[in-house]
Amino acid sequence: MTTAPDEKLPSPPPERSEKRRPDWMLMTQKFLKHGTAIASFSPSSGFLSRAMLRGIDFDKAQCIIELGAGTGPITAELLKRVKPHTKLIVVERDPDFCARLRARFPGADIAEADAAKMDELLDSRGIPTVDHVVSGLPLPSFPAELRDAIIASSARRLSPEGDFRQLTNMPYVYWRLYRKYFQQVKFELVPLNMPPGGVYTCKKYRTDAPGNNPASA
Ligand SMILES: C[S@@+](CC[C@H](N)C(=O)[O-])C[C@H]1O[C@@H](n2cnc3c(N)ncnc32)[C@H](O)[C@@H]1O
Repeated sequence: MTTAPDEKLPSPPPERSEKRRPDWMLMTQKFLKHGTAIASFSPSSGFLSRAMLRGIDFDKAQCIIELGAGTGPITAELLKRVKPHTKLIVVERDPDFCARLRARFPGADIAEADAAKMDELLDSRGIPTVDHVVSGLPLPSFPAELRDAIIASSARRLSPEGDFRQLTNMPYVYWRLYRKYFQQVKFELVPLNMPPGGVYTCKKYRTDAPGNNPASA
């Protein structure tokens, strides 16, 4: 077969080799390489992913931002539920995970970025407020200043009835930690996950939260 000189052969998508590895294998490899920056050796189960979204009123939500999407188990559940009027932004720092997310969810707004850049990501899209922050970030293992800053940005962007949802693979352990930031913290245990996990749903950012310095906002 000959090819006209000006006819470009399609280049293989960058995620092609990524597609060959199952999600759990990619996650385990990343965990072995990066440890606490990934924090989980396997993607969240369907049970945990659905629990992360329980109670969200998808008819009302105008904007949802997911932080730390990994291979996308929660993203998949979000995309099944979001309505056409809802803006969904999916943030993930790792390029291999982003390649997989883009291959799996073509057309979704996948931002390869640090969650600490949340304000810039929202500003560049002209979005002032968010109804739900859905975080899979390993926040407890972040340096305190970074964790404070990400939670502060999230909280300042939340609509009055909005919430900050945080995934965990260590049930109940961090309840006190999230109570330092929010007045209301509910925890739902999800045993059907490997390892058992759960979801903190947090509301009402505290005026005395670590890192709450409105002057610097
Ligand atoms: C525990 S995994 C959760 C993955 C996925 N949400 C799930 O439930 O299976 C944490 C994810 O957060 C990502 N991550 C860690 N630090 C981040 C940061 N500063 N900004 C954006 N993503 C980050 C990691 O690359 C990883 O994909």
